Amino acid sequence: MASADGVRPRLGELFTEERSAEVVCASLADSPDPRLRRVLESLVRHLHSFVKDVELTEREWQDAIAFLTDTGHKCDQTRQEFILLSDVLGVSMLVETINHRAAGRATESTVTGPFHVVDSPPRELGADISGPGSGDPCLVSGRVTGPAGEPIPGALVDVWHADADGFYDVQKPGTVPEASLRGLFTADADGRFWFRTIVPRYYPIPVDGPVGRLLGAMARHPYRPAHIHFIVTADGYAPVTTHLFDSGSPYLDSDAVFGVKESLVRTFAPVDDPARAAALGLPSPFRSVEFDVTLMAAS
Ligand code: BEZ
Ligand code: FE
Repeated sequence: MASADGVRPRLGELFTEERSAEVVCASLADSPDPRLRRVLESLVRHLHSFVKDVELTEREWQDAIAFLTDTGHKCDQTRQEFILLSDVLGVSMLVETINHRAAGRATESTVTGPFHVVDSPPRELGADISGPGSGDPCLVSGRVTGPAGEPIPGALVDVWHADADGFYDVQKPGTVPEASLRGLFTADADGRFWFRTIVPRYYPIPVDGPVGRLLGAMARHPYRPAHIHFIVTADGYAPVTTHLFDSGSPYLDSDAVFGVKESLVRTFAPVDDPARAAALGLPSPFRSVEFDVTLMAAS
């Protein structure tokens, strides 16, 4: 390549297969945001290394672009297919785990998932959130404490879960009252919370999109083990987003989104005590599960 006066221009290092990542990274030298530069450099290095590792064909590259395009087209106000993709590849859990390393006795975190509503309905302690559906009646109780075991009065306990058929209320619009199987509870003076509901069932993540096709191509099932979601917050403490998993559920060892942590699995124990059931306002027999939550101090 020569300029008009016949003198060769001074070129930087040109693209080669061997040094592809270094050449692209050099183009980031003037990037003003150091964190963005670090993230992009690492991304470029890993992407180039991946393409070289598998010797990606042009056909595979086109298929990948088409897959990502479909993933974008599947997204709307209520459906986030990119997060679902991140979920089934374990990336959501990795980001969650890195950013919320639980220390000491603190409750471990897991994914939020797509079925949380921003304004969970405030409920009285002991309220029945089961809605109109049938299912095994259940008492869920626990205590919110801080790192030294101190109770946290007034801690906010936001819960939501699927019904006995594995559906969230938002998946049955118009057929169940809004905010069934959801509630925002305020812990009492001793940090305790409790509510009545039904035992949730395991369920499949949405598979009517590109992520479902990807799972099929990997011969993976789409199921999540039965669980109840929690977000627990309190002034002066770091919030935790987590689940309580049912020890009796299938798929505990093959959650489609890798959300299970052993410390979060509990037994929904059967209780055959008519007097206690009557005092709680539950049919007899019922099931009972305890889930204590320990928050870390805010940093
Ligand atoms: C959920 O538990 O609600 C969920 C999490 C990740 C993907 C789909 C659902
Ligand atoms: Fe869920």
